[in-house]
Amino acid sequence: MSGTGPILELRNVSMHFGGIRAVENVSFQVEPGEVVGIIGPNGSGKTTLINCITGFLKPTRGKVLFHGRDITGMPAHKVAQLGITRTFQIMRPYHSLPAYKNLVVPLCSPRARRTGGWRGGGRHGDRDTVALDILEELGFERDSRVPYQAAGTLPTGYLKRLELGRCLALNPEVLICDEVFSGLSASEIASLVPLIRRINEQGLTILMIEHRLRELFQVARRVVALSYGEKITEGPPEEVTAHPKVREAYLGSEEEGC
Ligand SMILES: Nc1ncnc2c1ncn2[C@@H]1O[C@H](COP(=O)(O)OP(=O)(O)OP(=O)(O)O)[C@@H](O)[C@H]1O
Ligand SMILES: [Mg+2]
Repeated sequence: MSGTGPILELRNVSMHFGGIRAVENVSFQVEPGEVVGIIGPNGSGKTTLINCITGFLKPTRGKVLFHGRDITGMPAHKVAQLGITRTFQIMRPYHSLPAYKNLVVPLCSPRARRTGGWRGGGRHGDRDTVALDILEELGFERDSRVPYQAAGTLPTGYLKRLELGRCLALNPEVLICDEVFSGLSASEIASLVPLIRRINEQGLTILMIEHRLRELFQVARRVVALSYGEKITEGPPEEVTAHPKVREAYLGSEEEGC
């Protein structure tokens, strides 16, 4: 799909669980090729918002538009096949499968078969090779045993990259990362930052939920800030972090402040 206008648009999205207003009346747009950060203290509704975009939850109110098409409430597998994919905050690999086989699964999906998978690589090679190519690009040493070991035995740093690989295998247009830096050492994050940049330069639009603001701002040029489910502001990182409501929301938070 192509055309002008936002690739993704949220219009007054709310998600309530009984009396809990996890997301309340959130609107914003994402332009094609952007990297947009979503920040907010624990429990501010970031993951819930992602679940509403990706079809894991049907919003209580509001609309989600992809290339101007209403995808509100569309089931998750259909949203993924349209080209919006996400990593999970709590990673969900196929534990007993070798790491690279975790990518073969999405490579077999209709979207990957239609497009050839990540950058069309599947048109030129078999799926195992394409899976190993993607993992190599993400820092899995091809000649080591790491890509072949059971996913459940991988350390966190590799699991995060595997999550990214699983998403890329689908050849998405939009990649949504839910705290991809969390649980990683400073050096692991430092090696992921250029990787995310490269993925963006190769044409993907990226939404990044992050608590690690310093590292997030190395890739995201625009940020949406949430607090108690509501959007409190959006704009360039330096403006958002200087916003009194954002400072207030982070005050006393155990996570990295602004
Ligand atoms: N399925 C659910 N049922 C009831 N309440 C939920 C459900 N999912 C989330 N919530 C609540 O909604 C609020 C927002 O949660 P959410 O996980 O979206 O926050 P978050 O910003 O991703 O937090 P974190 O930074 O800790 O990951 C929290 O109060 C949470 O307890
Ligand atoms: Mg979350």
